[in-house]
Amino acid sequence: MNYISVIDHEQNEVKVDAPPGDTLMEILRDNLFDVAATCSGAGTCGTCHLHVDEAWFGLLPQKDCYEEDTLRDSFHYSATQSRLACQITFDESLSGIRVSLVNSN
Ligand code: FES
Repeated sequence: MNYISVIDHEQNEVKVDAPPGDTLMEILRDNLFDVAATCSGAGTCGTCHLHVDEAWFGLLPQKDCYEEDTLRDSFHYSATQSRLACQITFDESLSGIRVSLVNSN
């Protein structure tokens, strides 16, 4: 089973099914996590900001400059953990990835 492990705002950790080809934002939204995604995945709103477990962070594709700019404008930015969920497409190599929702307020 392909899955991602999500730590929500109350620090509960939940494993959810993850279809290859969906972005992490789509997976979170489809599983009713609190992700506003107001730009619908364009990478500009920052409301899908995640902290990725450091063991997984280095395995992700590199951020482009637009993602980096959006993240740097976000609360709780971390150079070693922050990513936009809408910019990461899930595939089998990411099964088991552990992410934490970031409060964007
Ligand atoms: S959905 Fe807006 S930045 Fe990801």
